Amino acid sequence: MHITKHLGIIGGNGWLGNAMALAAVERGLVSAGQVTLSSRSGSRGADPIAGATWTRDNAALASRADIIVLSVRPQQFPEVEIDASGKLVVSVMAGVSAATIAARTGASRIVRAMPNAAMEIRKSFTPWYATPTVSAEEKATLQVLFDACGEGAEVAEEWHVDYCAGLTGSGAAFPALLAQAMIAHAVAQGLPPDFAARAAKSVVAEASQLLGGPSGDPAQMIASMIGYQGTTAAALETMQAQGFMEAVAAGLDAALAKGRKMAAG
Ligand SMILES: NC(=O)c1ccc[n+]([C@@H]2O[C@H](COP(=O)([O-])OP(=O)(O)OC[C@H]3O[C@@H](n4cnc5c(N)ncnc54)[C@H](OP(=O)(O)O)[C@@H]3O)[C@@H](O)[C@H]2O)c1
Repeated sequence: MHITKHLGIIGGNGWLGNAMALAAVERGLVSAGQVTLSSRSGSRGADPIAGATWTRDNAALASRADIIVLSVRPQQFPEVEIDASGKLVVSVMAGVSAATIAARTGASRIVRAMPNAAMEIRKSFTPWYATPTVSAEEKATLQVLFDACGEGAEVAEEWHVDYCAGLTGSGAAFPALLAQAMIAHAVAQGLPPDFAARAAKSVVAEASQLLGGPSGDPAQMIASMIGYQGTTAAALETMQAQGFMEAVAAGLDAALAKGRKMAAG
């Protein structure tokens, strides 16, 4: 699919904005000439995307673009002065509601998406919500764009995007926490730190790929390991008894609460 619209990314030098632009150009969804990127500082991020237009003027970007991506941090949004009336606005900002975006930009067609840092390696799971005013054709275009960055998944309710700031927006953070806990324990037992890091990362990043295969249902995998009654079962049952599930749930609740607080300003 080739997207015929002009894509403008405000914060196109940032982690997500730059990766999204690069993914769209690399996959041939748009040519670099169809992309305008902005930053305040004039910095061009990790990849300057040869052939793209760079500007420090968001108003000029907004008048040129058909699809405007807001990829600044939520606290930076009040500085973004654009007239996006008649444009499709896509926000990746955590905690900023479609109603707030509409009020601040004049846009009535708004999509909120929650990618994660794995966009850098085109493996972001990206839930997205579109206001009812967004057309089926525009939704199809955005699905292709998010798929170019990993996997897009439309959700029916806006608050699902807010919830996913914790669930998936966290990217590799929760696996990193698990790996860190495993490394800390192994090192405390006297294993060499380099070996412990290699071993834990291999399990968390490589062995976990079984979850993407035919035997990848998490609940079934845990049940079958517990049924085996070996060393893994001993570890799993102890982790569960020590509150593993409750700790994860409390963390996800905290992410949602923080997102709501950010949205309230
Ligand atoms: N990173 C993640 O894993 C992740 C996950 C889910 C959602 N998000 C959301 O994605 C958004 C972007 O995150 P990020 O990690 O990509 O942040 P980031 O790396 O800090 O990128 C934001 C960029 O915006 C630029 N910027 C700030 N104000 C601007 C303005 N007024 N006009 C033009 N450019 C401006 C900044 O560059 P200058 O300072 O040079 O202007 C900065 O490079 C955030 O709202 C965040 O909530 C991020």
